[in-house]
Amino acid sequence: MNASEYFPPVGTNPLGGRLVRLESVGSTNDYAWQLALDGAEHGLVVVADRQTGGRGRRGRSWLSPPGTNLAFSMLLRPTSLAPDAVPPLSLVAAAALLSCLREDVPDLSIKWPNDLYCGDRKLAGILAEMRLKGRETEFVVVGIGLNVNSGADDWPPELAVTAVSMFQAVGRKFDLDEILQRFLSSFNDGYHDYCRQGLRGSVRRILTEASYLAGRRVSVVVNGRSISGTAGDIDEQGRLLVYDDHGVCWPVAAGEATVANMEAF
Ligand code: BTN
Repeated sequence: MNASEYFPPVGTNPLGGRLVRLESVGSTNDYAWQLALDGAEHGLVVVADRQTGGRGRRGRSWLSPPGTNLAFSMLLRPTSLAPDAVPPLSLVAAAALLSCLREDVPDLSIKWPNDLYCGDRKLAGILAEMRLKGRETEFVVVGIGLNVNSGADDWPPELAVTAVSMFQAVGRKFDLDEILQRFLSSFNDGYHDYCRQGLRGSVRRILTEASYLAGRRVSVVVNGRSISGTAGDIDEQGRLLVYDDHGVCWPVAAGEATVANMEAF
């Protein structure tokens, strides 16, 4: 599977301190997971030109034309985070993406719990997976698919209307490595901020300012039950607050929010 490894000089960003580049892999999340089981250290990043079995949330697949977009996974060993504090790392990653891209790409927002949108289309998806050791967090793999340089013709018809790339949004191509490094630096800051003070610091501000769902009518399925109402803010535990038609607030910890008149994707 053509792995090449890059160890930058000591003193550079600890995330990506060990960067494994693959021409082709099933899923970068699976590859990083295996390296984690083998003892790889916090900060490992696995990036691939092509994924043959890219995975999304809820058993969906993640399609990305080879060589044009970013598909990568980061290994985190957040010793200070209890397992229930791990899911908001998807929001931390989304906030880091938004803050490192917003100078280049207009109209970015974060769709709870794990998507970056440009306008009404999905620009990036995040898949965070965790392994427990007893009651503690052993490691987390955060995988990101970011649509960078793909064009309209690169998508299958069903994705052409729901997905967008940075190229499509602004009409120019981007250097994948430069975007990756920018993201790692941004995520590094957000990650440490989150480990120190949870969703109270800079990450929360971004989530509040740039929420795709706030004020929209949504349905959220929680444990098989559908809750409909108006989305509010994201609270300090990373839960989406949904206000039903009686004004009752439902803090939703996990699930999939569908905007009225829109399919979840
Ligand atoms: C989603 O939107 O449902 C999440 C998509 C996550 C895709 C990325 S691409 C890199 C990493 N490897 C995978 O198999 N999935 C994630």
